[in-house]
Amino acid sequence: MHYGETVLDHFMNPRNVGEIENPDGVGQIGNVQCGDIMRITIRVTDNRLGDVKFKTFGCGAAIAVSSIVTEMVKGKTLEEATGVNREAVVQALGGLPDKKLHCSNLGTDALKAAINNYWRRNGQPEKVVALEDEHLEHDAEEANACCGSNERGCRQPAVGGTVEGSRT
Ligand code: FES
Repeated sequence: MHYGETVLDHFMNPRNVGEIENPDGVGQIGNVQCGDIMRITIRVTDNRLGDVKFKTFGCGAAIAVSSIVTEMVKGKTLEEATGVNREAVVQALGGLPDKKLHCSNLGTDALKAAINNYWRRNGQPEKVVALEDEHLEHDAEEANACCGSNERGCRQPAVGGTVEGSRT
């Protein structure tokens, strides 16, 4: 499978890895096709994303997607950030192999889930946006939730998924 330079760069040197302490919003989703998991935490300042961090238990493409999404949306207003879709992410990465296109929606949807979580916490449920794809359900507030995937017998703690746990 061929990956471009930008994908490899973000996979080998992922930006914004980790978890924000006492975040303003948390989004955690799993890909229904493979069971991989992504968790994004956000810090909101004056309606802008002051900080964004991710933890991903997944393939190399998912790591690269997570990394570039955090770079693309930092500093944007919440409304602008929810407008970043998977096509924009794939374009920013210089493309993904066809078999890996499904990985791209994890990043934008985990981010949207985090922003939705912020809006719900702050009494603005009318702002909640739809996710782009179908995902495994996760309780973003439950720090030790398992991904729930039986396909690989996964019993990984959701927050334990880091870049070290990645597959290519
Ligand atoms: Fe699961 Fe890429 S996100 S294979």
